[in-house]
Amino acid sequence: MTKKLLRSLAGETQAVPPIWMMRQAGRYLPEYRATRAQAGDFLSLCYNPELAAEVTLQPIRRYGFDAAILFADILLLPQALGADLWFVTGEGPRLSTTTTSAELAKLNPVDAIHETLNPVYETVRILSRELPEETTLIGFAGAPWTVATYMIAGRGTKDQGPAHALKQADRATFEGILDLLTKSTIEYLSKQIEAGAEVVKLFDSWAGSLKGEDFTKYALEPAKKIIAALKVLHPDIPIIAFPREAGEGYVGFAKATGADCVALDNSVSAEWAAEHVQVDGCVQGNLASSHMVTGGQALVDEVLRIREAFSKGPHIFNLGHGITPDADPENVALMIETLRKG
Ligand code: CP3
Repeated sequence: MTKKLLRSLAGETQAVPPIWMMRQAGRYLPEYRATRAQAGDFLSLCYNPELAAEVTLQPIRRYGFDAAILFADILLLPQALGADLWFVTGEGPRLSTTTTSAELAKLNPVDAIHETLNPVYETVRILSRELPEETTLIGFAGAPWTVATYMIAGRGTKDQGPAHALKQADRATFEGILDLLTKSTIEYLSKQIEAGAEVVKLFDSWAGSLKGEDFTKYALEPAKKIIAALKVLHPDIPIIAFPREAGEGYVGFAKATGADCVALDNSVSAEWAAEHVQVDGCVQGNLASSHMVTGGQALVDEVLRIREAFSKGPHIFNLGHGITPDADPENVALMIETLRKG
């Protein structure tokens, strides 16, 4: 019997869709906070296979989600390429910047990344042994544009200004960074699959700030290259693409890139997306994560509305973005119970 999540990814319409949640292993869970304290800091947790596997399993034990997502971070890849990476409590990630051709040339070659990333592959191996047999294991990476925005700015930015500025000022270096990330992402995801990931997801969290031709060149084209290469190496592994806040860019994205599923943020309505995006195949999403904070009847109504809107095609229920640390674990239980109640 094929796993529930894989059935949706294969194009099956299910009366009750499979469910998992972005950032399901995270600070809203007391057991996550305890394990993270045991590991020390966030990066030590990411590079500790036993503890990273433990936090991945916590939301599966608590809620019985249909999928587990590997616990790691999209910024481990630039670190493996040689960027310094650290996290400032309460603020977020910091990286040494890559903004010149000389700095780009100093980064590691693609095949050197595994030395740093081996613990991540070990986490995947542990998880593929320990997950319940009905639970699907999802691996992931950041999309080149999104990862590049952090490498160029050295931190998270609201409008991705420094990356847009480099794109205008020194297009060769900008495209060189994207090209290195595209090649290393193929290698990184391929190794996760060899270690036991059954699905992979490409997070392009800042795709929405690329407009017009830039969206095609720097969000769609890199996704298409990565997916094409992975489909040659691992033809049976489904791929979820998440060009967050793409808006109209969601239309035709799966067909153009070869993705098996497109993940939707909550800036598009489920009704619109059913008509314009789900016509091409499986979609994932798109409950606003604020409902995990506020709960109540509004949460119940939204879960039922979204399930109904996507009921005529393949669907994976999820949030439109990651769950936030101030979410109430009881609301997650209510979301799942509502969805699964026939
Ligand atoms: O979804 C999951 O549960 C899997 C693990 C995962 C994490 N980050 C763990 C994490 C995944 C898939 C990511 C992806 C990621 N990381 C993205 C793309 C998705 C998105 O949210 O848009 C981005 C942009 C990052 C970079 C990143 N990592 C930022 C900006 C931050 C700081 C913000 C914050 O919430 O503090 C992180 C830290 C991070 N990554 C945490 C977790 C659980 C919180 C760290 C902690 O425990 O203190």
